[in-house]
Amino acid sequence: MDNLKRDILKLKQEKKALILAHNYQLPEVQDVADFVGDSLGLSIAASQTEAKIIVFCGVFFMAETAKILSPQKVVLLPDKEAGCPMADMITAPQLRELKRLHPQAVSLCYVNTSAAVKAECDYCCTSANAVKIVGESLKSVAEIIFVPDQHLARYVASQTGRDFIIWPGYCPVHVDITPEHIEEAKKHYPQALVLVHPECCQEVIALADHVLSTEGMCQYVKNSPVSTFIVGTEVGILHRLKKENPAKHFYPVSENAVCADMKKITLEKIVLSLERMEYQIELPEEIIPKAQKSIRRMLQST
Ligand code: 13P
Ligand code: SF4
Repeated sequence: MDNLKRDILKLKQEKKALILAHNYQLPEVQDVADFVGDSLGLSIAASQTEAKIIVFCGVFFMAETAKILSPQKVVLLPDKEAGCPMADMITAPQLRELKRLHPQAVSLCYVNTSAAVKAECDYCCTSANAVKIVGESLKSVAEIIFVPDQHLARYVASQTGRDFIIWPGYCPVHVDITPEHIEEAKKHYPQALVLVHPECCQEVIALADHVLSTEGMCQYVKNSPVSTFIVGTEVGILHRLKKENPAKHFYPVSENAVCADMKKITLEKIVLSLERMEYQIELPEEIIPKAQKSIRRMLQST
């Protein structure tokens, strides 16, 4: 075991900390984590742990979600610059204005939003449960505002037959995946199943066999008799897919599907984070109960 890993395990034990990592994290970061998962799984793990310190290896909105659910805990993000460009595409004042224009609408925010935006929303969702929340919890609601991901919103609309008031946000990593990437990959691996994330655009989704959250992809692959997969999401997920399914084959639709923010967390930064107890997520007191309401509604209906 190398020194950094040993230091992390020692510090983790001393401080009784829990390390959570998203499926897009660097392989070595995933390997030191207590739990690796998607946004939904990580928020559930953060809400259920007894640990008083959570080191969140992911991006800012994910660490904020953990803090919202457990305000009494210390939530550390090892690099305070690890953000999400999509989450930055809508602000609380912009959402308030949208709500003013549609006073009857119920507002639904993707978990990829700031705590301040979550505090303005009625419901939160992730890519794993958006279809269920719209189809079940919001089935008798006439008008729904869905922010900020236009592509996830269109995908959920196609699955539920609903119309949304859509915000034009997007994930720069997933919109760079094109139908040509999928067609090219299919030419090379005609026997493979194509899995894509719902942050991809409609033209890409139309060419996929399955549209899944990152955890959905991991579970699907594990239970599938198929042995070859073309993977249409951020390349970090390939580490977990290969590790959990050594006999199966995985090909990224695009080697360039890399989220620079997710890659900001390194083993060195995790050591410093635990040693110095930084960077602690702090949220304004008035934001927490409001943001909690939208996330708890999501967790109750999942
Ligand atoms: P998942 O919740 O599917 O892991 O997605 C998070 C994300 O940021 C995708 O870009
Ligand atoms: Fe945000 Fe896209 Fe990175 Fe996910 S992959 S964290 S949506 S920029």
